[in-house]
Amino acid sequence: MPKCEVIAIANQKGGVGKTTTTFNLGVALAQEGKRVLLIDADPQGDLTTYMGWHNADRIPVTISTLMDKSMKDEPIDPKEAILKHDEGVELIPSNLELSATDANLYQAICRESILRNTITPLKKDYDYILIDCMPSLALLTTNALACADKVIIPVQSEFLAAKGMSHLMTSILRVRKYINPNLKVGGILLTMVDGRTNLAKDISKELRETYGTVFKLFDTTIPRAVKIAETTRIGESILSYDKNSRIAESYKNFAKEVIDYEREEKARNTNAVQVR
Ligand SMILES: Nc1ncnc2c1ncn2[C@@H]1O[C@H](COP(=O)(O)OP(=O)(O)OP(=O)(O)O)[C@@H](O)[C@H]1O
Ligand SMILES: [Mg+2]
Repeated sequence: MPKCEVIAIANQKGGVGKTTTTFNLGVALAQEGKRVLLIDADPQGDLTTYMGWHNADRIPVTISTLMDKSMKDEPIDPKEAILKHDEGVELIPSNLELSATDANLYQAICRESILRNTITPLKKDYDYILIDCMPSLALLTTNALACADKVIIPVQSEFLAAKGMSHLMTSILRVRKYINPNLKVGGILLTMVDGRTNLAKDISKELRETYGTVFKLFDTTIPRAVKIAETTRIGESILSYDKNSRIAESYKNFAKEVIDYEREEKARNTNAVQVR
């Protein structure tokens, strides 16, 4: 059975393109024939809205329903929370109730593992589970890192982009040390790149110098495109809304890079086992 890859899309900095990347990467992976589940792990419910569910507060079963039950050790059927999107990806939605769930997590036993317990039964049904994290290092984000195989960090292409990342890197390294030794940074994705300037090159250089020896920096970068704001209003990905645009092309290339990276990693692990 192919292994499910769980990827947390995280950066505690707000507005860097986490949710846009989760949705569009998810659709691009689905177009490559992968079975994809997206999880909205942000009480703002932006992923749920971007995918077209505009009345998130009226959705009866969300990620909080499942996590609340898991905290109380009640039986859960995660499938009851799944919504199907027209573009071949599925979603576990979220809404403001997730703020209360996050607050309750602090009293829970095994508080870092609640999301992991919640999604484990689903892993057999998907090739990829992408978790859209909130812009903070709250316990909810630790939960996402605790159940992820990889974290992808979208970074907005702007001056001193690397500066704010040290807290996130510290959190990742701590989760890896104490909770989830399998967690990998796979890796940093430059978003909202303005093609007319050399800034992206300078920022890539800065990120490579600061983190490049420890973490991967994806070759693909995501250009700035005003059309993306239009897609969030109508619940469509950019791959459907404007499939020949540069940004749609970038998300398709990014999905291929994510798949190739995983394949290379598997080959490295197999070789390592054979050498031993
Ligand atoms: N490549 C892009 N070009 C132009 N605008 C973009 C791009 N990617 C995202 N945006 C816009 O930037 C804003 C923030 O994007 P998004 O919601 O994906 O960020 P986020 O990191 O998830 O934010 P938050 O931290 O609030 O969760 C949105 O209005 C979105 O439409
Ligand atoms: Mg977001």
